[in-house]
Amino acid sequence: MPEVVTTIAALRKRVAAAREFARREGSSDAPVSRVVLVPTMGALHDGHLQLVRQARDLGGIVVVSIFVNPLQFGPGEDLERYPRGLDSDVQRLEGLADIVFAPAVDEMYPAGSAETRVSAGAVAGLYEGASRPGHFDGMLTVVAKLFHIVAPDVAVFGQKDAQQVHLVGRMVRDLDLPVTIAVVDTVRESDGLALSSRNQYLDQTGRAAAVALSRALRAGSAKAESGPDAVLEAAGAVVAAEPAVKLDYLVVVDPETFLPVGVGHHGPAIALIAARVGSTRLIDNERISFP
Ligand code: PAF
Repeated sequence: MPEVVTTIAALRKRVAAAREFARREGSSDAPVSRVVLVPTMGALHDGHLQLVRQARDLGGIVVVSIFVNPLQFGPGEDLERYPRGLDSDVQRLEGLADIVFAPAVDEMYPAGSAETRVSAGAVAGLYEGASRPGHFDGMLTVVAKLFHIVAPDVAVFGQKDAQQVHLVGRMVRDLDLPVTIAVVDTVRESDGLALSSRNQYLDQTGRAAAVALSRALRAGSAKAESGPDAVLEAAGAVVAAEPAVKLDYLVVVDPETFLPVGVGHHGPAIALIAARVGSTRLIDNERISFP
């Protein structure tokens, strides 16, 4: 079972000891003293485990953080009901993670919150950020804290949260943080639904309707040859045909800038979708290449 550490001081000590042990025991050519962080909010599903497996494959010491970060939830969002279950999360990490960092809120924010925050910039006001003001500042603030606490060589994130991945990568570049970001493809149910901790809020009808998000993205990407507008039209038609799914946004963005692509766009892009199924907000995305 991974060792569970709940304080910042103990985590720093434990990581330093693991690095030192690995350095002494390991062969000089193996990346044994590399520390790989997988930041999570718990409620671990197979998508998270895929991130941790990837971390394991990178070699070295695998730290999984489990922390439901209040800073990235807005008023009226699901902070209180967000699924929590540390014991079962730790069990799922057996054989995959070395250390689980699971601090309480007052360990991370002794003053109740953080006065100093990372500002995620203009892209943070779009798409997810438009529906969830302040979400990305809160997310980047806790990610920056985790990077300072764990001091990982590599941090692993899931492509499922494409805007998050973009903003974390930009923070790392803008602030010259000494960490490499590894991105892992979205894990899906057999019908295409992207795995998400929030899927467990869905009832049977909602679960059946939710697959419209990935179906829309697939229908859209099948139209890549006809350009971004055709992609949006095809994807939009799939969502419109599913009354239980209320579209929040559907957009095709440039992966470099994360701004919407123009009609004549060529090359790589990402189609992003967010929708409400009942009271559950779901997101998904798909990489598209425009010829
Ligand atoms: O993707 C998540 O679960 C969270 O946004 C993260 C990166 C763990 C920060 O709280």
